Amino acid sequence: MKFLITAGPTRERVDPVRFISNRSSGKMGYALAEMAYKFGHEVCLITGPVNLKTPDGIEMVYVESAEDMYNAVRDNIEDCDCLIMAAAVADWKPEECNPSKLKKDSFDGVLKLKRTKDILLEIKEFKKDRVFVGFAAETDDLIKNAINKLETKGLDFIVANDVTQPGAGFGVDTNIVTIFDSQGGVTELPRINKADVAKKIIEKIVEFRT
Ligand code: CTP
Repeated sequence: MKFLITAGPTRERVDPVRFISNRSSGKMGYALAEMAYKFGHEVCLITGPVNLKTPDGIEMVYVESAEDMYNAVRDNIEDCDCLIMAAAVADWKPEECNPSKLKKDSFDGVLKLKRTKDILLEIKEFKKDRVFVGFAAETDDLIKNAINKLETKGLDFIVANDVTQPGAGFGVDTNIVTIFDSQGGVTELPRINKADVAKKIIEKIVEFRT
C-alpha cells in the first residue's frame, strides 16, 4: 500500500520572530511512517517542525503552517491508498502575519486569530476507496468527542487519546489509545510504546483493506 502520513505540529507566524503552535513532538506520526515502511509499504511523510531523525527510505515533505500542510496533503492524496492524519494541526492562526517584529512598547497585546483549514474536512471529497485515519487528542469526554470526529470527518478509524494521562500524548515515547472504527468496533490498548501503537494501527488498516 502507499501511505500518506502527517506528523508533528504546525506553526502559524505572528511576525518574523514569533509563532503560535502546540506541544506535538511528531513521535507518533514518525513511528507510524517507520512501521509502515518496515512492513514493506511505500510511505510519504508530511512533517511539521520537529526534532526527530529523518527516517530511512521514506519520502519526506517538510511544511510549517496548516496551509502548507493542507497543500502538501492535497498534492499527494490522489497517489495514496491510506491517509493517516497524526499531525496536531493548529486550529487558529493570526489574522495576519505582521511583516516586521511587533515591538513591546507599541503592541497592545491582543492577537486577532482566525480558523485554519480543517484538512480532513477539506480533503474528504478525495476519500473514495482510500482508508482515512484520524487522531483525537482529548482532555474531556474522550469517547463522545472521538466518535463525533470519526463521523463528521468521514473516517474509517479514529485513534483517541486522553492527553492528560501520564504516559500518553505529547512528547513521551508511550501512548494509551483507543481505536474506534466506522463499523462500531472499539480496541482499547494499554500503555505501550508508540512503535507498538503504530504496529497495531498499520495492522488494522491492512486487515481492513484486504
Ligand atoms: N485535523 C485536521 N485539520 C485541522 C485540525 C485537525 O485535519 N485544522 C485533524 C487532525 O490531524 C486529527 C483530527 O483532525 O487527525 C482531529 O484533530 P483534533 O485536534 O483532535 O480535533 P479538531 O478537529 O481540531 O477539533 P477540536 O480542536 O475542537 O478538538
